[in-house]
Amino acid sequence: MSKLCGLGVVAIVLAGAVTAYAEAQPAGKSLYERLGGKPAITSVVNQFVSNVAADARISGRFATTDIPQLKAHLVDQICSAAGGPCSYKGRDMKTTHAGMRIANADFAALVEDLTGALTQHKVPQREQQELLGLLGPMKKDIVEVP
Ligand code: HEM
Repeated sequence: MSKLCGLGVVAIVLAGAVTAYAEAQPAGKSLYERLGGKPAITSVVNQFVSNVAADARISGRFATTDIPQLKAHLVDQICSAAGGPCSYKGRDMKTTHAGMRIANADFAALVEDLTGALTQHKVPQREQQELLGLLGPMKKDIVEVP
């Protein structure tokens, strides 16, 4: 009996220790932090835009675009979507891309240029997938033709 009681006390003490340990752990890091914050996001966006510029499938679309402003908007958009301390002040995705007749293939090309930039900057697969998971739902507001 006393042996059983002893085991019970050990179990309670262990359970308490496990709870205390769990509470002492910091909350999981945001995607923003895991990407490396704003400096790393800025580097990835610079690479992304230069990949797009070198991509004959879609580069022509950006012929009259203010590239420094586009980059700044993309940095804020990604930073904010990833849980960082930025706010996106550009136009919404539907208004921005309205009338461009962007097709599925154009969207796929742009995603390829982005994943290329992420890989070039050694962003791990998990973070790449998380970021694409945040941007993917925007497709319905951007693509107008099959
Ligand atoms: C998830 C995918 C995409 C995201 C997150 C995105 C995001 C953005 C953002 C934030 C802007 C700037 C908005 C502003 O200045 O107010 C922009 C502009 C633009 N996007 Fe996208 N975009 C995406 C897909 C595409 C695709 C597939 C194309 C065409 C291949 C495209 C073509 C353009 C062009 C041409 C502009 C510049 C418009 C202008 O010069 O006024 N975008 N995009």
